Amino acid sequence: MSDKKTGGLAGVIAGESAICTVGQGSGLNYRGYSIEDLAAHATFEEVAYLLQYGELPNLATLNTYKKKLIAARSLPEKLKTILENIPKTAHPMDVMRTGCSALGTLEPEDDFTTEQDRVIVRLLGIFPSILLYWHHFHNAGVRIDTHSEQDTIAGYFLEKLHNTSPREDQIRCMHVSLILYAEHEFNASTFAARICASTLSDTYSTITTGISVLRGPLHGGANEAAMKLIDSFANEEEATKGVYEMLEKKQLLMGFGHRVYGLGGDPRSPIIKSWSKKLGGDTATFRISETIEAIMKKEKPQLPTNADFFSASAYRFLNIPTDYFTPVFIMSRTTGWAAHVKEQRANNKLIRPSSEYNGPDNREYIALDKR
Ligand code: CMC
Repeated sequence: MSDKKTGGLAGVIAGESAICTVGQGSGLNYRGYSIEDLAAHATFEEVAYLLQYGELPNLATLNTYKKKLIAARSLPEKLKTILENIPKTAHPMDVMRTGCSALGTLEPEDDFTTEQDRVIVRLLGIFPSILLYWHHFHNAGVRIDTHSEQDTIAGYFLEKLHNTSPREDQIRCMHVSLILYAEHEFNASTFAARICASTLSDTYSTITTGISVLRGPLHGGANEAAMKLIDSFANEEEATKGVYEMLEKKQLLMGFGHRVYGLGGDPRSPIIKSWSKKLGGDTATFRISETIEAIMKKEKPQLPTNADFFSASAYRFLNIPTDYFTPVFIMSRTTGWAAHVKEQRANNKLIRPSSEYNGPDNREYIALDKR
């Protein structure tokens, strides 16, 4: 089968997983728990634990897990030096990818069978520190201290980004967003991380792989691209004119469409939209977002908003710089990648598909001086 026929492997069942259902009748579930319930009631740390270990934690295990995540925020001196030497102009996704990979050289994982859980917690804890150390060093010449009274990744990230204590509703929105982005079955970055794990590579390499694949605008980078689209319009009239022009030119509108979800749409979208409305419903940004959504609903009902479209405005209302939207996605999706890496390792078989050859027939080698 050629790639055209398989169409990016659309509809191909590429393996088994007990972690998550996506668009399979029962909606989006993480280990059997609906995304609606988790977003309404859980903290991100509970979901991270659920994905890493398979069950929701009780209070004692949650507190122990949170203590480990807090301890994992600290930055080794050598990593600080590396972050200081990455240019200010670097893309923050490249900072995250480099930070992850560099940590693997400073705190190597010798044997993933005994060390994978330690490394996963370390990465979850340190990712906000990596991004924000680099951010404050290059923007304000400040070497941030990773100490904080905030006991969650949501609160820690917002506090360190803005140098001030976030409001409770802002922290809750951040939890919800991290929960929604945590896991999504065999999406491109997770599948890539599983392929990496299937070679028996180490945990840092699998997460670095995930980051590299998430970076593209057809995947995680869509939240940044959606924000740039919304920002390109000053008001609803401009948005209406602009979106019709884009549709006329058959251009992609970022934040719409999904490989797996059909007309019913992405169940994460209404949840994050409600938070976007709560935090910024009276702003031009929200009104422009709704205008774009309404036109797409009318003209392209087969392409509903996906999780990225209203995540963009929700992050804007949390005052997160646009370039940091996809790095925040990493802070969340590391939980899903890690769950899949562990699942792959538990019953491993090298992932190595075949391709159908469509190149030239066999031919004679031509000597260099005869070409
Ligand atoms: N805007 C305009 N047209 C679109 C869009 C869109 N967002 N998405 C798909 N189409 C068109 C596409 O051009 C194609 O048209 P035609 O048949 O005339 O060539 C048709 O719809 C089918 O699209 P496809 O690209 O074959 O579908 P796919 O399943 O390969 O793509 C997708 C899925 C998510 C890559 C695609 O919908 C897209 O590019 N969306 C914009 C990027 C985006 O929002 N990505 C985030 C995905 S969800 C969260 C995540 O993974 O991070």
